[in-house]
Amino acid sequence: MARRKKIYEGKAKVLYEGPEPGTLVQYFKDDATAFNAEKHDVVEGKGVLNNRLSEFFMTGLNAIGVPTHFIKRINMREQLIRSVEIIPLEVVVRNVAAGSMSKRLGIEEGTALPRPIIEFYYKDDALGDPLVTEEHIIAFGWASQQDLDDMVALALRVNDFLSGVMMAVGIKLVDFKIEIGRIWENDFMRLIVADEISPDSCRLWDMKTGQKLDKDVFRRDLGNLADAYTEVARRLGVLPSNVTHATKPTLIN
Ligand code: TMP
Repeated sequence: MARRKKIYEGKAKVLYEGPEPGTLVQYFKDDATAFNAEKHDVVEGKGVLNNRLSEFFMTGLNAIGVPTHFIKRINMREQLIRSVEIIPLEVVVRNVAAGSMSKRLGIEEGTALPRPIIEFYYKDDALGDPLVTEEHIIAFGWASQQDLDDMVALALRVNDFLSGVMMAVGIKLVDFKIEIGRIWENDFMRLIVADEISPDSCRLWDMKTGQKLDKDVFRRDLGNLADAYTEVARRLGVLPSNVTHATKPTLIN
């Protein structure tokens, strides 16, 4: 395939110029990072799994009327997406205390929250993606009050959808992160879900055993990350063929 122009390379994905104006190709790498890339490893097959899983979640969201950047999957590692102007915020929704919130506020991991809690982090690696308030966001012009209202509404719809989908396969959606982008249709601006939704950006706990099935397996050295993601994919039925994290040819009897 002719080499396309690289637009951006992040820690887990690469964006290439798309075939038509307003589109991009999103390539999922096997790289796993944590703690602002202090910890790094290559997990064979992670990109393939996240491409499939993000396709699955974004397709579902599109189908229920939550707009996303996803257009179609192209191959094992690439998907066609709409080009958006990313709002420089990570939007985190929490249903159960865990991770940085547990640490910051001294709440035991696993404590159910009385209502979903939404947090915003300013996307800046040099600053370590600091937690910010709506005051900061508006004062510094990262988003308007209307954008914030729309972002909260989108995030809560994504939370309800993902929580339901995961519950149906025996998995608790503890928390997740989304990114949101702007698109323009004529003079009209809309906010849509962008980036990815995958076990890299969610906390997923088995409802019966509490087993972690997300990137905490890597962050906390709890086992094989690809096995955990494969289990999520398998339960959701998004591994229809022989797509596993084995990349070497295997003999099929
Ligand atoms: P946190 O508890 O570390 O703040 O993470 C909250 C959620 O956001 C969790 O599901 C993991 C996800 N997340 C990302 O997707 N990217 C990040 O850089 C971080 C820090 C968290």
